[in-house]
Amino acid sequence: MSRHADSKLDPSAEEIRRWGDAAVGWMAEYLHCVRELRVYPETTSRDIRERLDEELPTESLPFLKVLDTFREVVVPATRQNAHPRMFGYVQAPGTAIAALADLLASTLNANLTAWRSTPAAVEIERLTIDWVKQIIGFNADAAGLFVSGGSMANFAGLAAARRAKAPDELMRKGAQAFPRALRIYASEETHHSVAKAAAMLGIGSDNVRYVAVDERFRIRIDDLEAKINEDVAAGHLPICIVGNAGTVNTGACDSLEQVSETARRFGLWMHVDGSYGGFATLAPSARACLAGIERADSISLDPHKWLYLPVDCGCVLYRDPETARATFAHEAEYTRVIAQQADEAFAVWDYGPELSRRFRALKVWMLLTSVGVRAVGESIEKDLACARHLESLVRASDDFEMLAPVELSIFCFRYVPAGLKGGPEEQLDAFNERLLVALQRDGSSYLSNARIHGRFALRGCVMNYRTTHRDMEILLMDLRRLAATL
Ligand SMILES: Cc1ncc(COP(=O)(O)O)c(C=O)c1O
Repeated sequence: MSRHADSKLDPSAEEIRRWGDAAVGWMAEYLHCVRELRVYPETTSRDIRERLDEELPTESLPFLKVLDTFREVVVPATRQNAHPRMFGYVQAPGTAIAALADLLASTLNANLTAWRSTPAAVEIERLTIDWVKQIIGFNADAAGLFVSGGSMANFAGLAAARRAKAPDELMRKGAQAFPRALRIYASEETHHSVAKAAAMLGIGSDNVRYVAVDERFRIRIDDLEAKINEDVAAGHLPICIVGNAGTVNTGACDSLEQVSETARRFGLWMHVDGSYGGFATLAPSARACLAGIERADSISLDPHKWLYLPVDCGCVLYRDPETARATFAHEAEYTRVIAQQADEAFAVWDYGPELSRRFRALKVWMLLTSVGVRAVGESIEKDLACARHLESLVRASDDFEMLAPVELSIFCFRYVPAGLKGGPEEQLDAFNERLLVALQRDGSSYLSNARIHGRFALRGCVMNYRTTHRDMEILLMDLRRLAATL
C-alpha cells in the first residue's frame, strides 16, 4: 500500500481531533435542538437516492465533506427517535453519554469474545450484568450477557429452555432425533420474536401455543393450564412458559408470580420477556406490576429501551449458568482457552449465540456510573406519569376514547368524531387509520398502531426523558387539528 493510502486509513492526531470536533459539535447542536425538528421526514426513497447515489468511490473525499452529506441528507431524512413526541413502537432516544461511549468502544475496538481477548472490557460486562441483576432483583449467581436486542435475548432464553427441558440429542442430532412436538406457551399478546425464535430453534412457530388474556391483556392462567394439560394428553412435550413484563401492544404485565407457580407445578422453564418493561422495576409505581420477574429461569431485557441507550444493546439473564453453558458451549481448537484461572478462562461465547461482540457494556457502564440509577428511575417514573396524563385527558374528553388500560407507558386509544359516534366500527377503524397516516406525515408527533379486540388503535409509548405532560397535550391537539382536515 502506498504512503498516501496509509495516511487516509491512519490520519494524523490533528486530523482526528478536527474531524472529532466537527462530529461532536454536530452532536451537541443536534441533541440540543431535536425538539424543533420534524419527528418524521417528508421524503421518498427516490429523493434520498438522488442525493446520495454515486459511483463506487475509487478515490477519497475529505471527511468533513462526507460529514456534510450526513448532516444535510441523512439527518433530515431520518425519523428523529430522540424527539420528545416520537411515541411510535418502543423507541428510546439514546443519550449523549452513551453515544460517546459507542465512539470510545469503536475506537478501542475491543472484541468481547472471552476474558483473554479484552480483560477489562469483559470485567465491565460482568460488573454491569451484576448491576442489571440487582436492578431486577435476580439471583446474584445468575449468568448473563449483552446481545443485540430483545429478539436475540428471547432466542437465547428459549434456546436454554430447550436445552434444559428437551432431550439433549436434539441439539446434536436435530429434530428427527425426537418425534414429539416441543411446546411453548405464551399469551396471545406476546411479541413475534418468540415465534420467530421457536422457528429458528427448530421447535416450530406452530408449537407456540397462544393463551387467552383477561380484560387487562394478561395471560389467563386457567387457559394456560388447560392448554398444557391438553398437550400432555396428546403426547406433546411442554417445555416453557413465556411471561410478559410489558407487552408490546398495551404494556400488559402477566401475573409473573402465577406464571412461576404454574411453571413449577408442571416442571417447565419460565422465560420472561422484559424487553420493554423489565427496567421499569426502577420506578416504584411499576414494581407491583412486575412482581415475580425474579422467579424466571431466563429474562430478556433491553437496555436500548428503558435505560435510554442507543441501539444496539439487549441483555439475557439465565438463573442457572450451567444450563446456559451447556446450550452454547462448543469446543474448537481456535477458541480453546489455554490454562488459566477460572475467572480468566471465562469465555462469553459459551453463554450466547455470538462470537465477535462489540463492547456494548461500555455504554451501560458509562450511563449508569455517570447518571446513576436514581435519575434513570425518576425518568421512567416521569414517562409512566406522561402516559397516565394522556389517559386522563382522553377519558375526560368527548372526542377520544381509550381502547386499553394504561399499565406502564403504552397508551392505545382512538379518535371518535361526532359524526361517527355509535356508527359502524369499520368506519372508525378506517378513520383512525387515515388519521394515523396524516399524523405521521404531519411531523409534529408520531404514533404507531395496534389492534385491540379487533379494532384499529392509535398506539403510543413514552420512553424519553425529554417528554413532558405538555407533549401529551400537543399530541391530542395535533390529532384534533388533523382530524378536522380529513
Ligand atoms: C415486548 C418486546 N419483546 C421483544 C422485543 C424485541 O426487541 P428488539 O427490537 O430489541 O429485538 C420488543 C420490541 O419492541 C418488545 O416490545
